[in-house]
Amino acid sequence: MTSQIIALGSINVDFQLRADRWPEPGETLMGQDFLMIGGGKSANVAWLARNLGAEAQLVAHVGSDSLQEIAMKPLQQIGVNLCTVSQIDKQSTGVSLIVVPKDGRKGILLSANANEVWRKEDYDAVSHILTDAPSGSILTTNLEIPVPLVKHAVSEANKRGMLVILDPSPAQRLDKELLELGCFLTPNQSEAQHLTDTTIENREQAMEAAQCLVSLGGQAVFVKLGSGGCAVMSANEQYFISPPLVETIDTTGAGDAFAAALSVALLENRTLFESTRFAVAASAHAVTGYGSQPSYPSRAQVDALLRTMNDE
Ligand code: RIB
Repeated sequence: MTSQIIALGSINVDFQLRADRWPEPGETLMGQDFLMIGGGKSANVAWLARNLGAEAQLVAHVGSDSLQEIAMKPLQQIGVNLCTVSQIDKQSTGVSLIVVPKDGRKGILLSANANEVWRKEDYDAVSHILTDAPSGSILTTNLEIPVPLVKHAVSEANKRGMLVILDPSPAQRLDKELLELGCFLTPNQSEAQHLTDTTIENREQAMEAAQCLVSLGGQAVFVKLGSGGCAVMSANEQYFISPPLVETIDTTGAGDAFAAALSVALLENRTLFESTRFAVAASAHAVTGYGSQPSYPSRAQVDALLRTMNDE
């Protein structure tokens, strides 16, 4: 059986618009360019992994409402394995309210809804999915689902020697115990600042934060800067990958694009350095369009951006 990307975590519907800023209390602001599309960090990862040619399986919960169809449709169309997406009775599908200001640096308000409801039998199901996964498969996950479930899945993956890529977002949910489980961690700048209690304004500070997270248990750490560059640190390697030059329209889902492309490249047995370059290029492409999945690249588009990048 072919190794695959197992994306465990959130699936949402994104309600997105452009506005100068979030409204103040009591204020009504006019926005524009409304979009209602499938999103959620793990759904985005599964979508892009599949678009880049990998087998992808989503392990997630939707609600028993009509929003689930909007969330699932793009995944069905692209051929993500959705056998392990369950519908939760009397729950809404996860919803993200996303505001994109002129500089493209989005803000998200998340109502996780069905993403938060996992029962004992669901934990057992996750164990079976990981046991049955073809050898060489990679688990990607994030913190938009309950942290105990993430710990359970990472522990199960560790028992099987499966590589785990954990996006520590929302960062407030990452705790010491989870850090010590030895995942590949992919925090963005603000998440890395929160996790290390430092200020990160340049690549040196990003490298220091990555080093700190390795010392706290991360197997390899990728600190993604707002500029698109990435500081990488592991026990044996350390480097900074500069991004290609692109115009930023909307950063929504860029982190998920990074995780998806990183996992696909690692699944293809590329080196850590090559895999990170691939992820930086995919993530750079993702900021050039509006919305997450609609702005994700094909493999040819990632390769085209890679050709414009300088190695350091
Ligand atoms: O990373 C972007 C994603 O985060 C959005 O699709 C939104 O649903 C939130 O989960």
